[in-house]
Amino acid sequence: MLVDEAAASGSEKEPPRNLLPRKASSYGDHRYWDARFETEEHYEWLKEYSYFEHLIRPYLRSTHSILELGCGNSRLSEGLLAEGVNDITCIDLSAVAVQRMRCRLNEKGLQGIQVIQADMLELPFKSESFDLVIEKGTMDVLYVDSGDPWNPRSETVCRVMKMLKGVHKVLKLDGIFISISFGQPHFRRRQFEAPYFTWSVETKTFGEGFHYFFNILKKGRRSLDDKKVSTECCTVPRISLFHDDLDDENFLFRFDIDELGI
Ligand SMILES: C[S@@+](CC[C@H](N)C(=O)[O-])C[C@H]1O[C@@H](n2cnc3c(N)ncnc32)[C@H](O)[C@@H]1O
Repeated sequence: MLVDEAAASGSEKEPPRNLLPRKASSYGDHRYWDARFETEEHYEWLKEYSYFEHLIRPYLRSTHSILELGCGNSRLSEGLLAEGVNDITCIDLSAVAVQRMRCRLNEKGLQGIQVIQADMLELPFKSESFDLVIEKGTMDVLYVDSGDPWNPRSETVCRVMKMLKGVHKVLKLDGIFISISFGQPHFRRRQFEAPYFTWSVETKTFGEGFHYFFNILKKGRRSLDDKKVSTECCTVPRISLFHDDLDDENFLFRFDIDELGI
């Protein structure tokens, strides 16, 4: 973890090496996360709320109902609660994450956040249930064993499309999906901009040195008849191989460990 991240969040130090999976594909396996969350109290993937609050605030209303995908042991939902939104649903595949998050919220006496064990590929919600759906580092899990990022495996694309279709369905007609990722936009846009979806796609960045991507998808802003997929170029910051972030676990997502034969 970056020194500035640890200092700013006051969170735990970098996770012990024994919490790292042996295979990248384990990031999609609830048994990996269950075991990890048994001992890990808090690890904020990418960056904590204060780093991107200026980007999210314009989209928040106190009346909103919000769904967070793959909450893990993150405090993102507490940040949203502090903004005055008190209808927040967090889901995670891991029963341990769900149990521990419920306990944490209970101990803090926080109300307005419900935590449910659910798979983001099979969202158990009715159509048009949420004003805003948010995920941080969770969609990236679907890409860990994608192979060539320019031509991801068809299984990867199928899983991503299944997730996105579920998100699109549970969003209200003018709802917004916010996807916070270290996956560079040109690797995400082909799925985000698939003709099936009516959302517009915009990407902002945050972070110093190394950039994280804040994707804003506004439902109903693109006609289903408009099959044009944007060919707009994204300006992507260069990745410095000497940056501290390379020590961070997040960097693992850029490799297919299985293929490295480690
Ligand atoms: C990289 S962590 C991100 C955690 C948190 N969002 C954060 O920012 O710190 C990925 C999380 O997604 C969860 N997850 C993985 N696959 C999932 C799925 N199919 N449905 C729901 N959650 C999933 C994991 O249990 C884990 O908590």
